[in-house]
Amino acid sequence: MRPPYSEAMASLLSETADSASKFFSQALSRALSEGLGGKSSSSFGLRALARTRSIVYTGESLMIPVIELLVNRKRPHLPSDDMAFFNVARNALNKVIEDDIDRIERGIYPAEVLRAEHILQHFRRFPVLFSEGLKASLRRKSKKARVFGEEAKDLLRGLPEYYQRNFHFQGDGYLSERSAELYEHQVEVLFAGSADAMRRMIIEPLREQFGPGDGEGLTFLEVGAGTGRATLFVRMAFPKAKIIAVDPSGPYLKKAQKQLEPYQRHGFFEALGEKLPFQDQTFDAVYSVFLFHELPREVRRQVIKEGHRVLKPGGFYGFVDSLQLGDTPELDSGLKQFPTQYHEPFYRDYIETPMTNLLTESGFAIASQGTGFFSKFVSAKKTT
Ligand SMILES: C[S@@+](CC[C@H](N)C(=O)[O-])C[C@H]1O[C@@H](n2cnc3c(N)ncnc32)[C@H](O)[C@@H]1O
Repeated sequence: MRPPYSEAMASLLSETADSASKFFSQALSRALSEGLGGKSSSSFGLRALARTRSIVYTGESLMIPVIELLVNRKRPHLPSDDMAFFNVARNALNKVIEDDIDRIERGIYPAEVLRAEHILQHFRRFPVLFSEGLKASLRRKSKKARVFGEEAKDLLRGLPEYYQRNFHFQGDGYLSERSAELYEHQVEVLFAGSADAMRRMIIEPLREQFGPGDGEGLTFLEVGAGTGRATLFVRMAFPKAKIIAVDPSGPYLKKAQKQLEPYQRHGFFEALGEKLPFQDQTFDAVYSVFLFHELPREVRRQVIKEGHRVLKPGGFYGFVDSLQLGDTPELDSGLKQFPTQYHEPFYRDYIETPMTNLLTESGFAIASQGTGFFSKFVSAKKTT
């Protein structure tokens, strides 16, 4: 007798093949038209690289329903269950990748941002990711979101209660070297290889404020820097700016330090965004990537107030984070679904509470905003 989930597996596999072949044929037809139209081969190369990266992660993201199938023994939710949503999401994914390459071509940041890790390093991590995914799914099933190993238990002491949890049901939350090692790959799998492109949405607003150039004489603060992925991209865009990065997680900052080893002019501090260890009016820019959706509303407010305090008059405040309800109405159902699958206790309140209101209440004037796939950016100026 065929197992009850074999039909779902077959459908999953055919969807992957279908989606991969669509991506490849799009890339190929673009190559032909652009190549023949006289565009530079580097333009094609950048697009091919970004698309291939997204295809790899999209393929890997199939582990999510496969794991659900194994753990729950029932048909998982599949993209084809809501084709209208799937098509909007796929178009938004293509656009965020295309916009990223467009910014490279306009000189907003260098092509160096696309540099990938060695392919073997990438695929070696995959079995560990799969086993971590299984454990996360079991935590979800048993509704356990405060499970920590010894390393993490030690580090938890003194950190706020809202932080002491397995965000996304991930092992050790943000508090172990193992978690730090897997985190970036996990996020890329979740966002079909577009997480880095979404992170880089913070750079164009920084350029709008500070203009072209290498950032000489500027001091930036990144709050909730995690493993330093966005820090690295801002570093590449503004090689001479001084960048200070804070995060409450020692193991994540250790990974960030390693990631930025080849570069200079940066510093890392273990600190909370709502209690920054810096004097008033120290920084030209304060920004965060993927931080606010993980904070209770009152803490979001405090983090913004602290950012305001440490910024110089007229300074830049900006963030990239999840879309909020109404930003891309066709994707709203996905935003509502997200916290039912991943442990994100403050996400629902985050998507319902416009960040622009919190910023204007705290003495900022909104400068620019926009969206890319499941993320948005907002930038603002300190006015009072
Ligand atoms: C979703 S991760 C994003 C990390 C990184 N910015 C990125 O782009 O991958 C959220 C990060 O925020 C940090 N964080 C959580 N609460 C914080 C707080 N109150 N102040 C500063 N950072 C915080 C976590 O430790 C974690 O590294």
